[in-house]
Amino acid sequence: MMPGMDNNLLCADRVIKALPTEVREVLQVAVYDTVGSTNDVLREKKGQAALHGAVVLAEQQTQGRGRRGRRWCSPAGANLYCSIGWRFDGSLEVLAGLSLAVGAMVAEQITTHFDADLQLKWPNDLYYNEQKLGGILVEVLGDVTGRQSVVIGIGLNVNMPEEEGASIERPWTDLSSVVGAEVDRNALAGAVLAGVAGGLMQFAALGFAHWQAVWRRRDYLSGRSVVIDGSPPIAGIACGVNDCGALLIESTAGQLAIAGGEATLLDIGPAS
Ligand code: BTN
Repeated sequence: MMPGMDNNLLCADRVIKALPTEVREVLQVAVYDTVGSTNDVLREKKGQAALHGAVVLAEQQTQGRGRRGRRWCSPAGANLYCSIGWRFDGSLEVLAGLSLAVGAMVAEQITTHFDADLQLKWPNDLYYNEQKLGGILVEVLGDVTGRQSVVIGIGLNVNMPEEEGASIERPWTDLSSVVGAEVDRNALAGAVLAGVAGGLMQFAALGFAHWQAVWRRRDYLSGRSVVIDGSPPIAGIACGVNDCGALLIESTAGQLAIAGGEATLLDIGPAS
């Protein structure tokens, strides 16, 4: 740990104190110093009822990962690396749009508590001012007796040291730059967990359709020219997400709903 950082160390008691009572009853929060990946700590609980509501926070990840096998920059004592285990009743379809919904839950909480109006880049990146601030990695562990077990990983750049951030290949920012002050990670973790736990209960009852309107208000790609990777790649104008979380593209072949992939902007500058 770097000197001077200990007053902003993660502390399970402080995180729990920041949670509303109804959420405290649902979550079991554990704080680790160093892990490979917080998602992997929870994956080991696969098949166990204890997965539901288990939360792992870590000061540092040595094997932090993002979507598509990318590395997630996870230096010690700087950011938020958080995973939540959850079980949903039903078949795989009940998970449609889950990772987008979690992005919306996190963005709403950060706006409320830190006055930072984040945008959502399909499928599950958090953006501020054209730069990536965080991402969501949902891993489905499979069907256990008619239930879907998932691990939801949330990575937020919070107080990222410049020298560590230099290794990130895409434009990035962190929450302390956005708000202009060092961010209390325990308060942030409490706010994020409160929003996500409450949101997951709503998602279990109402699905993604409930979050679609939130998503559309924060849609970073809306109205912009994009290309979706694949063979062949698909180019067009992004025009929102449908009620399953698929990206809608207005292309020369008409309107398409893209269920998965990576969207790259073709224009530069903010959306009009
Ligand atoms: C992405 O944008 O590609 C998703 C990034 C997800 C990073 C988080 S950090 C906590 C959890 N543990 C991981 O190894 N990954 C996720």
